[in-house]
Amino acid sequence: MLEDEWHIVEPSEGTVELVEAINLLLPQLSQRAPLLTLERLAEFLAAPSTHLFVAANRQGKIGGMLTLVVFPILTGRRAWVEDVVVDVSSRGEGLGRLLTEGALRVAQELGVATVDLTSRPSRVAAHRLYESAGFGVRDTSVYRFVVEA
Ligand SMILES: CC(C)(COP(=O)(O)OP(=O)(O)OC[C@H]1O[C@@H](n2cnc3c(N)ncnc32)[C@H](O)[C@@H]1OP(=O)(O)O)[C@@H](O)C(=O)NCCC(=O)NCCS
Repeated sequence: MLEDEWHIVEPSEGTVELVEAINLLLPQLSQRAPLLTLERLAEFLAAPSTHLFVAANRQGKIGGMLTLVVFPILTGRRAWVEDVVVDVSSRGEGLGRLLTEGALRVAQELGVATVDLTSRPSRVAAHRLYESAGFGVRDTSVYRFVVEA
């Protein structure tokens, strides 16, 4: 059973092992993603609205991750999913599904009304994952303003 081998945890502490695992996953998500430092990870984990979920096995290997951000707006409590990535060596084994369903469960427990995410059309596996987890495509435009440093 997959659940016997991999489980979802929400780490509360930043460790060197966690930074190393994330830094192996981030380039598989985006080649432009800057690598994480222990200091940045501590800041990230301390943010009350942010939940990091990782898929770990009994040996402590981290096979994938997902970030859920929960925030209130005037129409209710909403959530956003980011940083979804499974290590190339563990893809197709259900980790993406485990992470997504785990995050949706927590979102529901936190009273969230909607969970949003974006995904490029070329990410075929991700689209399949999100659709089979119950996400629907919205007819809307996503805008981004890039703040110059
Ligand atoms: C997207 C990603 C997280 C999926 O993780 P995964 O652990 O391999 O996915 P799962 O094994 O849980 O499979 C989930 C669903 O996706 C489908 N799927 C997985 N890989 C697929 C592929 N290469 N092509 C088509 N469908 C695929 C599975 O069949 C399953 O669908 P089903 O539930 O209808 O059977 C992983 O491929 C990945 O990290 N990709 C690179 C980063 C990325 O694109 N992240 C998403 C950013 S929006």
